[in-house]
Amino acid sequence: MLKKQEWCIICIKNVGARKMNETMNKAAIAAEYIRNKIDFQPEIGIILGSGLGSLADKINDAVAIDYNEIPGFPHTTVEGHTGKLILGSFFGRLVAAMKGRFHYYEGYDINQVVFGIRVFKFLGIGSILVTNASGGINENFKPGDLMIISDHISFFSPSPLRGINEESYGKRFPDMCNTYDKDLREIARKSAEELSLDIKEGVYAFTQGPMYETPAEIRALRILGADAVGMSTVPEVIAARHSGMKVLGVSCITNMAAGIGNNSLNHEEVIKTAGETEQKFTMLVSKIMENWKM
Ligand code: HPA
Repeated sequence: MLKKQEWCIICIKNVGARKMNETMNKAAIAAEYIRNKIDFQPEIGIILGSGLGSLADKINDAVAIDYNEIPGFPHTTVEGHTGKLILGSFFGRLVAAMKGRFHYYEGYDINQVVFGIRVFKFLGIGSILVTNASGGINENFKPGDLMIISDHISFFSPSPLRGINEESYGKRFPDMCNTYDKDLREIARKSAEELSLDIKEGVYAFTQGPMYETPAEIRALRILGADAVGMSTVPEVIAARHSGMKVLGVSCITNMAAGIGNNSLNHEEVIKTAGETEQKFTMLVSKIMENWKM
């Protein structure tokens, strides 16, 4: 006879395993649905952040699929995130771009937040470019700057790897050194240089949101080593690294973080700055694609 505590542990483990397998099955089905709509193998997965979605308009011979058409794909709820998967050729690369992502603060389960990454994996994609909007913590930054993400801080992030590990997908305890690939970062730096673009580099801290941080939280994050803060990206990056994909992250500093300057923070400002930076951002990403080596 099992004690109540032992029985509970078995239940928790089973729920974890079932969830993980369900997610993987759903992702495989979604990938199959997408594969039937294209006649090429996408090489790079792209996730477009708040207000940065118009880059997807530059993808040639594009096949655009609404998320709500893809079996198992979650739907988006935030203004500035339209929810389409766009597949085609982008400056010499075959890409699958998510225009609109799923944030934990929207109420999605963490497995839904990273669902697109798992679909990318089943589509045979080996590397991803993630983009986002963030608040600048480093006082040398200003709104409109672009920052190559060198590393992240995610103590406050729910892990998408929680539960029984899917060994066929990745290790139980994945290494997180070189999470933001050194060679890809070098390519991003070189691309900015070729365009004579000023580029920053720094550590991105994840917060769950949806509220912006307090000034005290920003002071704490600065002490921890963060240069920018945002409410996305880290769950997707963890899921991508778990399955062995290479990651490049580029963040658009849309505002200075709470307590830096006197302004209060709002989503309209984030979308406005992202919009104003979009041309520069698109130029950089296009150059990165041209220079990208697998
Ligand atoms: N904090 C958190 N997320 C953000 C910010 C911010 O200041 N700006 C854009 N996304």
